Amino acid sequence: MSIKRSLKQGMACFAAALLASCTGGETEPDPDKLVIYSSRHYDSDYALYKAFEEAKGVTVEVIEADGDLLIERVRADGASNPPDVIITVDSGRLWRADQEGLFAPAESEFLNERIPASMRHADGHWYGLSSRARVIVYARDRVDADALAGYESLADPAFEGRVCARSSGNIYNISLLAALIDRWGETRAQDWASKVAANFARAPQGGDSDQIRAVAAGECDVALVNHYYFARMARSEEDDVSGLAVFWPEASPGVHVNISGAGVASGARNPELALSFIEFAASDEGQRLFPELTNEYPAVTSVSYSNDVLDAMGKFTADPLSGSVIGGNQELAQRVFDRAGWP
Ligand SMILES: [Fe+2]
Repeated sequence: MSIKRSLKQGMACFAAALLASCTGGETEPDPDKLVIYSSRHYDSDYALYKAFEEAKGVTVEVIEADGDLLIERVRADGASNPPDVIITVDSGRLWRADQEGLFAPAESEFLNERIPASMRHADGHWYGLSSRARVIVYARDRVDADALAGYESLADPAFEGRVCARSSGNIYNISLLAALIDRWGETRAQDWASKVAANFARAPQGGDSDQIRAVAAGECDVALVNHYYFARMARSEEDDVSGLAVFWPEASPGVHVNISGAGVASGARNPELALSFIEFAASDEGQRLFPELTNEYPAVTSVSYSNDVLDAMGKFTADPLSGSVIGGNQELAQRVFDRAGWP
């Protein structure tokens, strides 16, 4: 497995182009090499690549780029080193990548059977592999769990000056609001966002882990975050989150989840190998890596795994809203945030 995180790959191709050997389709594809472009950089994924290499006797080359830069990376390097598989985080980004035409349809009975319909593209452009729940973390000594009902609670005047959340430009918040727009309609969703913003203890700053630390430090009492940051902190020695707990917002239709997913790339040189990688990631062996190494929930809900912190957090119902609907509402959600005054 080789992982390239910087611009080195582009430079290598630029140099190779001078030698006229980095011009995409002209070189013979290596049937034993799988090229993955990924915006994830987690232990679960590295373990997955290694296990796939060992199981299939192939080489996996990984090119990483954060978030929205992944699409640009595919554009910049795709001609010289086309991706076979594209992996990205959040239905919003899967949707954007699909809009850019980066995925090819790939049919798999195995994947259709294992992955819930809400967690995959209807025509097989991408398949969800894991999910993170967007939850409310609260300080046990300052918040009565009975005072929390759902995402609505963050807008309750009782929480004035007590809420921490990251900025509205973040994809996790955009996708949550995109889901709430579908659930409640635009007017109510905007009203919610403006009331939450009015309850902020401080202007949005930092990532989800920073919101959790702010609750631990007493700067705020509740925070809107992805569950896996809390689980990661609970499992680490560096952070003390023993005074905090997770509240699952909404039993029905359920807690909003961000999906991480993979698709066979359009222009893949080894599309069959690409699909077999995604199937491997959806196998029992592949799926247990996500909860065990990255504290995410597996897309295949029947998979058993070992993670005491996730077990202690208990069970929840995930909102079955389709990732494609969440993706389609992205731009509207950003406008609603702007109008609501959530920075
Ligand atoms: Fe994250």
